[in-house]
Amino acid sequence: MYIGIDIGTSGVKTLLMNEQQTIIGSAHAGLSVTRLHSGWSEQHPADWISATQTTLDTLAQQFPAAMAAVRGLSLSGQMHGATLLDKDHQVLRPCLLWNDTRSHLEAAALDANPLFRQMSGNIVFPGFTAPKLLWVKHHEPAIFDQVAQVLLPKDYVRLWLTGETVSDMSDASGTSWLDVAGRCWSDELLAASSMQRSQMPRLVEGTENSGALRTVLAKRWGMQQSPLVAGGAGDNAASACGMGVVQAGSAFVSLGTSGVLFAANATYLPNPGSAVHAFCHAIPDTWHQMGVILSATDALNWYAGITAIPAAALTAALGEHLSAPSGITFLPYLSGERTPHNDATIRGAFIGLEHQHTRQHLTQAVLEGVAFAIRDNLGALNAAGTNLQRLTAVGGGSKSHYWLRLIATVLNLPVDIPADGDFGGAFGAARLALIAANNADPLSVCQPPPIKQSIAPQSALTVAYEDAYQRYRAVYPLLKQR
Ligand code: XUL
Repeated sequence: MYIGIDIGTSGVKTLLMNEQQTIIGSAHAGLSVTRLHSGWSEQHPADWISATQTTLDTLAQQFPAAMAAVRGLSLSGQMHGATLLDKDHQVLRPCLLWNDTRSHLEAAALDANPLFRQMSGNIVFPGFTAPKLLWVKHHEPAIFDQVAQVLLPKDYVRLWLTGETVSDMSDASGTSWLDVAGRCWSDELLAASSMQRSQMPRLVEGTENSGALRTVLAKRWGMQQSPLVAGGAGDNAASACGMGVVQAGSAFVSLGTSGVLFAANATYLPNPGSAVHAFCHAIPDTWHQMGVILSATDALNWYAGITAIPAAALTAALGEHLSAPSGITFLPYLSGERTPHNDATIRGAFIGLEHQHTRQHLTQAVLEGVAFAIRDNLGALNAAGTNLQRLTAVGGGSKSHYWLRLIATVLNLPVDIPADGDFGGAFGAARLALIAANNADPLSVCQPPPIKQSIAPQSALTVAYEDAYQRYRAVYPLLKQR
């Protein structure tokens, strides 16, 4: 038996899987985000621990025999967050999350140093970890002086699980401190952002053992032996392992809080000029590219909050069949945007409202805005030399087939829907635990799921959606001028 734990932004999901990769059960515990000021986004690390504990306690209650047989655990997690610890591993302040863009000035300053794009292969985005530390240095110097260790969110949970400070290559790629080609910390990048190697965790591959589960926790959950905890991965690389997107040519679109267009690569293929992320994959000697938008289901959930109607009810009201474009242009830049604009200060918009527009038109516009933002990401991946043939859909938003039909049509690519099951970050992490515990071949473990349905682009609507996309593209420069 193996356990995968995904430390997401809206909750922790923990899943129990057997040797044949059948899911035995899963548990979820919610998390909330604090936004004290525009562009800020924080969580308290203690909340990740209590949510993780709740999910494992639940599984131990429901599946005691399976829990007794657990041989390995692993972690998937929201990336880039800065968890700051003092010399006694006490948390110094709430974690600044991946969608916290307050450090945009620090990010621009670091990005102006050519060393960062050269060695890390990526733009220093405001959401990445290095500029957050510089922000703390400038605004909270007393805290900065006490920082003895910086951990990514899932690695703070690992510290609680194992007592070890360790990260994996895929998650470490999003710090701006990793030499992504060499798969090691870069002393030059650390020094250029006032940090030192001693403040960094030890690095392992996602498929390697990172330490043993503490005995007290193994006992609490009724485990017979102390299982190993594998390196795991950032949530996108972990989802890729869950979906079997580990070999060049395979790709997925993720509709989670963020939206991601992810392609696996056999080699390291950076292209910071198009704001594409080029990161280590969770599997040794493998890399990946991705475009990231900051608000995917986050945009829909924001609109659901305003209308006081659950997101699932809003999308269900659109029916199954794709309609012509809504006529309203929505830009989903609620907390700025990453790919392709790298713009922390841009904000969203609804444009073209008329008397006859209904709530349904507005829902449609929100889904369209996210689909167009993902289309921008496709352009960024193309500019980075990657052409996609088809995509597999993952994430909470992919439950809406309307949204998937829209994405297939806007991107002009077939979208595959996996057979019922759960192939996201927690499942990918459980696979990484299985590989580490058995020294198994990653490619044979990380197979693609059976496909339930393929959604083809709707050719009768392609031209109308192309026109709507061009209207969408024209708005960003206008918003920028405001
Ligand atoms: C990736 C990114 C997001 C978070 C969301 O670069 O910032 O996808 O990992 O959990």
